[in-house]
Amino acid sequence: MYLGIDLGTSGVKTVLIDEAQRVIGTGHAGLKVSTPQPGWSEQAPQDWIDATRAAIADLKEPLDRVAGIGLSGQMHGAVCLDESDRVLRPAILWNDGRASEEATELDGQQRFRDVTGNLVFAGFTAPKLVWMQRHEPHLFEQVRRVLLPKDYLRLWLTGEAISDMSDASGTAWFDPAARDWSDALLSATGMERGMMPSLAEGSAVAGQLRADIAGELGLPAGIPVAGGAGDNAATAIGAGITGPGAGLVSLGTSGVIFAATDRFLPAPETAIHAFCHALPGQWHQMGVILSAAACLEWWAGIVGQPVADLLAELDPQPGQPARIAFWPYLTGERTPLNDPAQRAGFTGMSARSTRPQMTRAVLEGVALALAENMAALREAGGGADSLIAMGGGARSDLWLAMLAQATGVPVLRPAGSETGAGFGAARLGLMAATGAGAEAMTRPEIAARFDPDPALLPGWSEALARLQAQRA
Ligand code: XUL
Repeated sequence: MYLGIDLGTSGVKTVLIDEAQRVIGTGHAGLKVSTPQPGWSEQAPQDWIDATRAAIADLKEPLDRVAGIGLSGQMHGAVCLDESDRVLRPAILWNDGRASEEATELDGQQRFRDVTGNLVFAGFTAPKLVWMQRHEPHLFEQVRRVLLPKDYLRLWLTGEAISDMSDASGTAWFDPAARDWSDALLSATGMERGMMPSLAEGSAVAGQLRADIAGELGLPAGIPVAGGAGDNAATAIGAGITGPGAGLVSLGTSGVIFAATDRFLPAPETAIHAFCHALPGQWHQMGVILSAAACLEWWAGIVGQPVADLLAELDPQPGQPARIAFWPYLTGERTPLNDPAQRAGFTGMSARSTRPQMTRAVLEGVALALAENMAALREAGGGADSLIAMGGGARSDLWLAMLAQATGVPVLRPAGSETGAGFGAARLGLMAATGAGAEAMTRPEIAARFDPDPALLPGWSEALARLQAQRA
């Protein structure tokens, strides 16, 4: 058996698989995000550990035959540790916009784009440390180590400070072509290599489970922990996404269009991300919007109805996009705008507008924002021939049908779409423990397929053009 642990923003998910990669059990424990100031987003790393304990207990399965663990996690967060590996402040998360000035300054230094192949986004790790230097110098002086969220769990599980190539790619201190930290970029932000974890490929062994933690969790001591992956690469590993043409759309808190590439294909001017994949010798591109399923949750909160009830009010056909438009920039935007200050909004309502029409506009707005991401990937020489849909939002047939219209490619919902990143993490655990390679990367069984209707495509392109024109 193999255990995947996915440290998400809204909770920790655990997935237990057998030797044949069948899911034996899943567990979950919720997490809260704190917003001490507008645009900030933080979590206490100790809460991640507590939630991981709870999510493992929630599996309600004997774990004495687990032979390997894989980790996946929300990317880009900064966990700052002192010389005794004590947490210095709450972790600053991927969707925290406080370091936007610092990000703009670093991005203005050409070497960041040259080495990382990416824009320096405010959510990436390096600008957060520069923000700390300026706003919390007493804490910055004590920083001896910076870890990404899932790698803090590894430190607890194994006692080792190690990251993997896919997650390290999102720090703005990493050279994805060389698959190594960049000393020049570290020193440009007052950091050095000794403050960073060592590096491993996602499918390689990166630490062994400590005996005391193993005893507490009911797991065998000494089992390998895989390098693991950032949550999007882990989801792709679970969905068998490797090589050109294979794509993924993730409708979680954030929204992502992910395409695997067999070489490093940077295009920072398009605001896409070009990162290492979680397998040796592979890379990927992705477009990221910061609020996807989060928009629907927000809207459900505003109108005081459960998401499922709001969706049940809608006509199940995607049809032509309606006249009410919604911009999904609740927490700013990355691809293609790179603007943490962008905000969301509805336009085009009349005195006759109804709640279902506005719910529909929310779904369409997210689908169109993801279509812009797909266009950016294509412009950068990538893109995908089809998209496997993952994440909580993938439960909605209507949303996936809209995505097919908006992107122009078939959208496929696999059986088990919600175990995504946790399943990918478990698969990486299996690969690390057994030495298995690409043969373990089977594609999931497809439970539903949504093909674009060619007659509707022009209407969706026009809706996207309208949105872009209004935004400009
Ligand atoms: C990716 C990103 C988000 C988080 C969400 O660049 O910031 O998808 O990884 O967990």
